[in-house]
Amino acid sequence: MSGVGRAWGKVILLGEHAVVYGVPAIAVGIDRGARAEPSPISAGPSELFVRGWGIEAKDVEAKAGDEPSVARAFRALAEITRDRRRARGEAELSPVAISAAADLPPGGGLGCSAALGVAVARALDPSADSEEIALRAGAWEQVFHGNPSGVDAAVSAAGGCVYFERGKPIERVAMREPLLLCVGNTGVASSTKTMVESVARLRARRPEVCEKSFEGIRSLVRNARLAVEAGDAVGLGRLMDLNQMLLSGLFVSTEEIEAMCSLARSAGALGAKLTGAGGGGSVVALVPDPAVAERVLFAWEKEGYSSFFARAFAPAEGAQPSATPGSAP
Ligand code: PMV
Repeated sequence: MSGVGRAWGKVILLGEHAVVYGVPAIAVGIDRGARAEPSPISAGPSELFVRGWGIEAKDVEAKAGDEPSVARAFRALAEITRDRRRARGEAELSPVAISAAADLPPGGGLGCSAALGVAVARALDPSADSEEIALRAGAWEQVFHGNPSGVDAAVSAAGGCVYFERGKPIERVAMREPLLLCVGNTGVASSTKTMVESVARLRARRPEVCEKSFEGIRSLVRNARLAVEAGDAVGLGRLMDLNQMLLSGLFVSTEEIEAMCSLARSAGALGAKLTGAGGGGSVVALVPDPAVAERVLFAWEKEGYSSFFARAFAPAEGAQPSATPGSAP
């Protein structure tokens, strides 16, 4: 076993925002995420370097002052790893120096922090299964997100497609066919917290409008699950377009998101919508084949939007994403 820990990125296909109010949502793991490589060191404590972020962390209590979130998250992860192994009667792990990197834009609604947490959790303990890794990565995520739903860590650890509803166990959805996705960045930073608060304010002012949208999204998500199970990409694309319309009605879409969705549809995408919190962030387009993917990526890049191609598929039990994530269509 190489011990290299890999993790999937995440795209919400349908249901964001409504999921906060008890509507189910559907997310998939994409074959671009994070990777963490452990090297043994002779004496502790374990160390983490996050390439690209210039962050170093050690599994020791900080002296005083500001400590980067990654350092606190790493300590929380190392601690839960020790506790869980001890509780199962497993031996102490030897210290390691971990070099990690994420292949996702941070803050883009693509589960970057969870992917990093999952990859590092795997590098610390390559013997743990995906469910256990997702649980441990939850301790890392808590540092970044306070009260995460757990969906990012679950998707990041196991890949595939999940159906989730607040307060209920995550359900895995059997994917009949892989989904071909183009993921683009609006170039506008957005905060999930701010966007969730803006929907809450709208709901306080216009409860009937929001409830109607949420109920609409509920039925779209239900149908999307059936479309994923049946391998009906055309149907799924239409449902994504309808979801985007309802999200615009909740004022979480922006000019850039709308422009990117139109460009994608004109280039032949089966459907396009914002993914995550909106207000900027990322857009996802479902495409029927690699040639259309090329056209969508080109149309976006011509307008200055950075983007990449990704596949979502049902991985073999326990499989991790490939070593070369983010491959060409
Ligand atoms: O941008 P992300 O990946 O944090 O997704 C936000 C999804 C919301 O439904 C808007 C918020 C949430 O907590 O579910």
